[in-house]
Amino acid sequence: MNESGTELAIETSGLVKTFGDKRALDGVDLAVPRGTVYGVLGPNGAGKTTAVRVLATLLRPDGGQARVFGHDVRKEPDAVRARVSLTGQYASVDEDLTGTENLVLLGRLVGYRKPAARERSARLLEAFGLTEAADRQVKNYSGGMRRRLDIAASIINTPDLLFLDEPTTGLDPRSRNQVWEIVRVVVARGTTVLLTTQYLEEADRLANRIAVIDHGKVIAEGTPGELKSSVGAGSVHVRLREAGRRDEARLLLASVLDAAVEPEADPVALTARLEGESTERGAAEQASRALAELAAAGITVDDFSLGQPSLDEVFLTLTGRPAEDGTSDDGKEMVA
Ligand SMILES: Nc1ncnc2c1ncn2[C@@H]1O[C@H](COP(=O)(O)OP(=O)(O)OP(=O)(O)O)[C@@H](O)[C@H]1O
Ligand SMILES: [Mg+2]
Repeated sequence: MNESGTELAIETSGLVKTFGDKRALDGVDLAVPRGTVYGVLGPNGAGKTTAVRVLATLLRPDGGQARVFGHDVRKEPDAVRARVSLTGQYASVDEDLTGTENLVLLGRLVGYRKPAARERSARLLEAFGLTEAADRQVKNYSGGMRRRLDIAASIINTPDLLFLDEPTTGLDPRSRNQVWEIVRVVVARGTTVLLTTQYLEEADRLANRIAVIDHGKVIAEGTPGELKSSVGAGSVHVRLREAGRRDEARLLLASVLDAAVEPEADPVALTARLEGESTERGAAEQASRALAELAAAGITVDDFSLGQPSLDEVFLTLTGRPAEDGTSDDGKEMVA
């Protein structure tokens, strides 16, 4: 396949990477359209960083195929490297240099002459809200400032494909929002972004498509909406006036909605997860029928809400465990 013949920035099939007897990637198929944000979502140890490192040609795969803009990562690593840039999970800028010094140095490394490197550096620092910190050593930056500088460093030359490996892990909500804004700007300028994250909300907000990976395998793929509808239309939450009527209400809801109904920690609350109905309208109709039946049985409802399924619920449905549980690096379940 030649470069102009593919609309895909990334295409992998059956990609395998092993470390000893650990299969970090266990047959990964991905198709990332150009010009989009593609989210790779998974818990600790799922294989996200390994996938990024293989695609960025920092690791050699042990099996399967991977192409970046049509170039085979094994046979044409230089052609791949010319098109991609990587912001690692752990920041790679030099702590002892200032923000400006880091960016100018990197600019020089990618071939800018000194004045051009200085100008590019100043523009990036301004765009990322770092002008005031430009002459401070990076070791005195906050986590959020560092992450922004790291992303700035990776787009010194506008890459065709940018890998962002957990760009917002550990950041406060404000810094996270700033990084999201940067991602939107980068994509608007034509760069394809592959973003790994453990935050369901982040993938939901930024990504055009999402692959959910677990133990080195893609366990689901689609738009955020498709992933959500694959677990049903959502859930109905009700709070009753009287805790004493909860068991009765639970049976009634289960039969009217034909759904699993679970008691919540709050003794008057119940949650029904709607299955099968895939439209929001269908869910709303079901929910109003359920409320009418509760009223007819003389059970008073104080509060009621209809929720879209969260990506957390998607993960739970797909894997049988919450995304937060994760596994430790050696693959054993964490205790707490
Ligand atoms: N260099 C290595 N040597 C041995 N095992 C490795 C190496 N790199 C990764 N692994 C193992 O491969 C699996 C996948 O690791 P990877 O770093 O890709 O996960 P991840 O999804 O990026 O996790 P996290 O969210 O914690 O960053 C893990 O079990 C990890 O311990
Ligand atoms: Mg990682």
